[in-house]
Amino acid sequence: MDVLEAIRQRRSAKKLRPDLPPRELIDELLEAATWAPNHHQNEPWRFFVLAGEARERFGQALAGDAVRALHDPTGELSETIARAQRDKAMRAPVILVAAMEPPFGPKIVEVENVCAVACAIQNMLLLAHARGLATKWSTGEAARSEHLKRFFGLTPEHQILAYIYLGYPDGDVSAARRTPHHEKTTWLGWPTNGAH
Ligand SMILES: Cc1cc2nc3c(=O)[nH]c(=O)nc-3n(C[C@H](O)[C@H](O)[C@H](O)COP(=O)(O)O)c2cc1C
Repeated sequence: MDVLEAIRQRRSAKKLRPDLPPRELIDELLEAATWAPNHHQNEPWRFFVLAGEARERFGQALAGDAVRALHDPTGELSETIARAQRDKAMRAPVILVAAMEPPFGPKIVEVENVCAVACAIQNMLLLAHARGLATKWSTGEAARSEHLKRFFGLTPEHQILAYIYLGYPDGDVSAARRTPHHEKTTWLGWPTNGAH
């Protein structure tokens, strides 16, 4: 598949089938991630792959956070909320977690690490699409949670930049629209009608 075709066609998945993609495909995605541009070649990414029962443990961690955030964590609502979080973790056969190492040394700037990991994530999303898989990039409170960072053995200085819900697509994807690029672009010094 042509790169532009993958870029244009990739859409966040609404629903994923439960069957597990082959391990080789996941390895291929992770390898593609590591070819992302990164300043000073510091490769600031860390990845976690959750499948099978690891998703259940992840779901418990999500549920724990959501219930602790309630005014009344023992109330009736808490079990409904906990169940929704546990279900969320099971909505894909694979969850790829992309985290960012904290900057170290005088040359490393945090925003550049964020950019590098975001590029790594997009590499995975595009290749997944080209290989017939579907993805959904998710963040929310779970990305900022100290509890979840600990779950993955990360420090509070690490940042979780994406939970990528991954699997084979189930059903249609949403229609997408984008603002035409000319509305977002200012051209400076570009020749018009041959004039400079
Ligand atoms: C940094 C980032 C965080 C996102 N977090 C969420 C999220 O928490 N929940 C969600 O439903 N989608 C999330 N998305 C996906 C966007 O909602 C989605 O990309 C957007 O609606 C455009 O749709 P498309 O991916 O189909 O082009 C996130 C995307 C990015 C780049």
